[in-house]
Amino acid sequence: MASFARFLLIATSLATILFINPSAAKSSRPLVTYADINTICSKTEDQPFCFRVLTNQTFRPYETDLLGLAKIPINLALTGAFYIKRDIPPLLKQAKNYKEREAYTLCTQNYNDAYDTVRKAIRFRVKGDYRGLRVAALSGGEEAKACGVRVAQFNPSSPLLQKNGELKNYFNIIWVISNRLIE
Ligand SMILES: *[C@@H]1O[C@H](CO)[C@@H](O)[C@H](O)[C@H]1NC(C)=O
Repeated sequence: MASFARFLLIATSLATILFINPSAAKSSRPLVTYADINTICSKTEDQPFCFRVLTNQTFRPYETDLLGLAKIPINLALTGAFYIKRDIPPLLKQAKNYKEREAYTLCTQNYNDAYDTVRKAIRFRVKGDYRGLRVAALSGGEEAKACGVRVAQFNPSSPLLQKNGELKNYFNIIWVISNRLIE
């Protein structure tokens, strides 16, 4: 019995090392190559934007795997959504008429949702839930789009629109990477 118990202990430790240890699993995934980034960006809506983001050496894109690469647009989306959320209340205060007020009020809702969605995306990425990540990327992009369309109706040169467009692009990149992770 004693030796069987010892066998069980060794077998369990081995299983832990081989199958459960996340760092061991992670290091077996291939590192991102320029070809990967090329494939990913070719499927995005704004390809030059995607290249600028994913090949930016500040974010060390070639030192991680595909799941790690997703962290780049996710972190940028988090910062972007945070700042847009912060920028909307003053715009709402300055709104000149009912239509602007209504648009910025709805945008407040859009960006609260978009911000929560990025936070969900962070958790899905960490858990390796690619499908959850894909859903989050899609719904976050829809929130950004909804706000942008409304604001563009009365102020096509609003500074909000540029940041809004960037956020939409980050969600789009996350969506394409999650599709590749699911493949
Ligand atoms: C790379 O990212 C950093 C940090 O966000 C930014 O300051 C820099 O301008 C970016 N470089 C390019 C080429 O986009």
